[in-house]
Amino acid sequence: MKNTTAVILAAGKGTRMKSGLPKVLHEVGGKPMLERVIANLRSAGVDDIITVVGHGSGAVKKLFDGQTRFVEQKELLGSGHALSRAVDLLPEKGKVLVACGDAPLISPASFGSILEACREEGASCAVLTCEMRDPFSYGRIFRGEKGEVLRIVEEKDLASPEEKAVREVNTGTYCFESSDIKAFVSRIEMNEKKKEFYLTDIVGILRAEGREVAARTCPEEEAIGINTRADLAAANRTLNMDKIKDLMDNGVTIVSPENTYVAEDALIGKDTVIFPGTVIDGGVTVGSGCRIGPMAHLRTGTVIGDRVEIGNFTEINRTRIAEGTRVKHQAYLGDATVGRDVNIGAGTVTANYDGKRKNPTVIEDGAFIGIGARLVAPVKIGKGAVVGAGAVVTRGRDVGAGETVAGIPARPVNGSK
Ligand code: UD1
Ligand code: CA
Repeated sequence: MKNTTAVILAAGKGTRMKSGLPKVLHEVGGKPMLERVIANLRSAGVDDIITVVGHGSGAVKKLFDGQTRFVEQKELLGSGHALSRAVDLLPEKGKVLVACGDAPLISPASFGSILEACREEGASCAVLTCEMRDPFSYGRIFRGEKGEVLRIVEEKDLASPEEKAVREVNTGTYCFESSDIKAFVSRIEMNEKKKEFYLTDIVGILRAEGREVAARTCPEEEAIGINTRADLAAANRTLNMDKIKDLMDNGVTIVSPENTYVAEDALIGKDTVIFPGTVIDGGVTVGSGCRIGPMAHLRTGTVIGDRVEIGNFTEINRTRIAEGTRVKHQAYLGDATVGRDVNIGAGTVTANYDGKRKNPTVIEDGAFIGIGARLVAPVKIGKGAVVGAGAVVTRGRDVGAGETVAGIPARPVNGSK
């Protein structure tokens, strides 16, 4: 798909989000929506992306600097007006994909399908549509007797219950012949009800000019346009359930899928059991045969070996834990490297942040950390060492291999070693 251009419409205010943040910067599955749209277009082979920005454009441009070209839409006069802003940047000829910045789940395959439809059918435009169980609020697709797409009608302009019952909707994703955008986008007239220029009206205009309009459909889960916080939750749920299903298919037990969050790029080995309330962030790796949760939080940068137990109300952050280690109750480990077969007692905390820097804690193989211990980093607990209950091991006061320490501050216990 070399030499394919895409335009992302991302200038809208997102009024229904009731937010100070531009809508396309809201996160779905831990990533801003616009990042997903850009990534999926790139995966579809698009090499030139133009993003139409308006509301909150400063923040959007800053975050995506270098990843796309930008064009400003100063007055937010609708999707048709938004596309018209990009006209001067479009090639004279060739195919142009148009995507909505608020439809983050449209897959590379679906982008590819409308591009192909345009080419195969020699169409001036191909629309990506979807059969929705509840089509409310989406533009509806009206087809002729031979199944040809005649026009798209927005919810507000649907005239009858029969029209409202049409379940095929517009996903807001199109492929156009570039020269036809240039020729016809300015013909769109302002919709009197909404005082906006609807891009969807271009379909009727192209048809009236005798141009072909093709269509391809995509799965319902992809089609969601994010207009409200409820839509945001639905999209998050879709991504999370896809991930959880994939994990289960690969031998991971998820005791309560509805109550578990796993980022899409987290890796989890087979025969690991994840208990409810657990959150596993992006970039985390968990080995095989582990037991995680309930209510555990594994944060980015964490790597956990095989047969590790991470229990109730435990947070693990940027930490490596080797096989067979147990951190079973209410602990916090940050910036730590923990060996194998270590026991971390209930309520153990690594004090990894001194107000300026994040400091490392090393706990070597077979060490035993008593309940409620405080390990002030940077500090090292040697192989097989024992830290007594409630001890505070102060920074730099490393505990030697086999040594036992206790108290505040922790000191060697007589007879140890
Ligand atoms: C739009 C479609 C609708 C489709 C739905 C799919 C139109 C008129 N309607 O409706 O048929 O079913 O998407 O999700 O296009 N935008 C701008 N500038 C503007 C207005 C909008 O850049 O002045 C951008 C928005 O940021 C958004 C996209 O265009 O990414 C769609 O706009 P939105 O207002 O969300 O349209 P919908 O009512 O969802
Ligand atoms: Ca929308």
